[in-house]
Amino acid sequence: MRQNVHVDLGARAYDVEIGPGLIAVAGARIAPILARPRVAVLTDETVAALHLDALRDGLAAGGVAMEALALPPGEGTKGWPQFSRAVEWLLEQKVERRDVVVAFGGGVIGDLGGFAAAVLRRGVRFVQIPTTLLAQVDSSVGGKTGINTAQGKNLVGAFHQPSLVLADTDVLGTLSARDFLAGYGEVVKYGLLGDAGFFSWLERMGPALAAGDGEARVQAVTRSVEMKARIVERDETEQGDRALLNLGHTFCHALESATGYSDRLLHGEGVAIGCALAFELSARLGLCAQEAPSRVRAHLRDMGMKTDLADIQGDLPGAEGLLTLMAQDKKVVDGRLRFILARDIGAAFVADDVPGDAVLGLLRDGLRGR
Ligand code: GLY
Repeated sequence: MRQNVHVDLGARAYDVEIGPGLIAVAGARIAPILARPRVAVLTDETVAALHLDALRDGLAAGGVAMEALALPPGEGTKGWPQFSRAVEWLLEQKVERRDVVVAFGGGVIGDLGGFAAAVLRRGVRFVQIPTTLLAQVDSSVGGKTGINTAQGKNLVGAFHQPSLVLADTDVLGTLSARDFLAGYGEVVKYGLLGDAGFFSWLERMGPALAAGDGEARVQAVTRSVEMKARIVERDETEQGDRALLNLGHTFCHALESATGYSDRLLHGEGVAIGCALAFELSARLGLCAQEAPSRVRAHLRDMGMKTDLADIQGDLPGAEGLLTLMAQDKKVVDGRLRFILARDIGAAFVADDVPGDAVLGLLRDGLRGR
């Protein structure tokens, strides 16, 4: 069973196809948008070892030839050195203005590859074939592309929408349990921010999803992508509502920075902890009942996920240090801390001017639990 979500952005509209076996038919899916039957594929070494032969075969079955560059895996790749390597390589491959670049990998490859496509010859089209749960439900959809610099994450980039996204749910079977659950943090986020029914469904189906239920995985990715698509359609460049997608992210970015973007804390794990903190903060501010953060935490715990600051191994800065890191987040507007808070599960909203004292108290209590 395959699903299709259309992202309706006028001249930049595209489809997200979700389901098993999509890599095997990648050539047939991509061929209609090609000016000539060849693509340049950016990937990473881990994905290349597991899936590049399958992609080559899937493209060839549709009459499409490919060249590929495999970059080192990991967040460290998402910076200037590997970015310029990728752009130079695309030029060496003589990718022309009407050609298509394929980003085949997780969030790092999708963001870097999309940004390379955005600047190459002032912009060429690109196709996302996301291979992690996180990339399938979040980073491959919506057109945010970019790289990290010494000053912080994602500070250089462009909005550049893909022309097509192929989310092959079969590849999720090769993820480690930890990587799968990290991506699941972003799935839960969609229920929490805007669909209480989806959160209830995840409470029931989450364990089956994690255990490999293919049908449930397709449903979860599809609902997540639908929610993201509707938000991006309303607010492509994050002037308003798109900020809802950052539920849990202000906390998450501070925690990622505090842990050195290392495997002490994966992005999706930080999102899950951040969502739990955002709901706890909402309850403390009297915006929602205490039952809401309790339910969020109970579900994350049931899934065996990191839920609290206490679940992060090793040293963390104190509450003041974490608050300072939050203030460096690019979601700070005019020096004011912007949080996504919630009136209930499925009812998030953008809150400016959140009192610093309430955040400090929350962090102090969380750190005391360590
Ligand atoms: N990952 C957040 C966004 O795409 O806006």
